[in-house]
Amino acid sequence: MRTLRHMIYRPIDPTDFDLAMNIGWYSQPRVYHNARDMFTFHPDLFMGCYDDGQLIGIAYGWPRYIHRWGQLCAYLSIISMDKDHRRLGYGTPLLTAWEDAARTGGFDTIHLGAGPDAFYLTNGYTPIEHTVRIHKSTLPDDPHHTIDDLMYISCGDDPMLDLCIKPNGRTRQQTVDQMSKLFEVCDSGTAFKKEL
Ligand SMILES: CC(C)(COP(=O)(O)OP(=O)(O)OC[C@H]1O[C@@H](n2cnc3c(N)ncnc32)[C@H](O)[C@@H]1OP(=O)(O)O)[C@@H](O)C(=O)NCCC(=O)NCCS
Repeated sequence: MRTLRHMIYRPIDPTDFDLAMNIGWYSQPRVYHNARDMFTFHPDLFMGCYDDGQLIGIAYGWPRYIHRWGQLCAYLSIISMDKDHRRLGYGTPLLTAWEDAARTGGFDTIHLGAGPDAFYLTNGYTPIEHTVRIHKSTLPDDPHHTIDDLMYISCGDDPMLDLCIKPNGRTRQQTVDQMSKLFEVCDSGTAFKKEL
């Protein structure tokens, strides 16, 4: 049985913002500046895991209006432990601390779109969309007729398209396997939802 060290889960110190971005492996300028703005307005949704004062994990996000649900959600953009502290049991309480902050902020639904599916399934999240990335030249003329459970299509970085498919009980891998019979699948993801 593993022994957990006593970590402190609390909003990050402003002086730790750059370190948080590094742990969250998002250093692209556009993403960095967006996160910086969001940190100004929603500092409580930038949760850190501190080991003896040292930031070793980060979960951050902000409010996002999801048009197709007609709902303002707490959107978890990134959760990440530094490389030496993964699969040790600290990511789960970090996620719980972020959920608590979202609840305290008045949100009743969490939305997120990236990461290991097993981590979110273990933590009570429901998969709501599988995203399958294909080259747009391969899209058939009548996609809603050809592709089972297709919800909508969104533009990825040109020339790619994302097919957003209702899971309908399938794992992401099963959806990818199914789509691979029709397309060359370049990437995939799962969006999750959790009611608080
Ligand atoms: C995802 C992440 C934050 C989870 O934190 P963690 O401290 O590793 O998670 P925990 O130890 O609390 O894991 C709890 C359970 O979730 C599942 N899980 C966690 N990470 C997983 C992974 N990469 N693959 C499969 N299952 C995973 C496992 O069931 C795990 O229990 P186990 O280790 O006893 O099998 C961490 O692994 C990480 O930083 N990964 C890289 C960054 C990333 O992918 N972030 C998500 C996208 S923003």
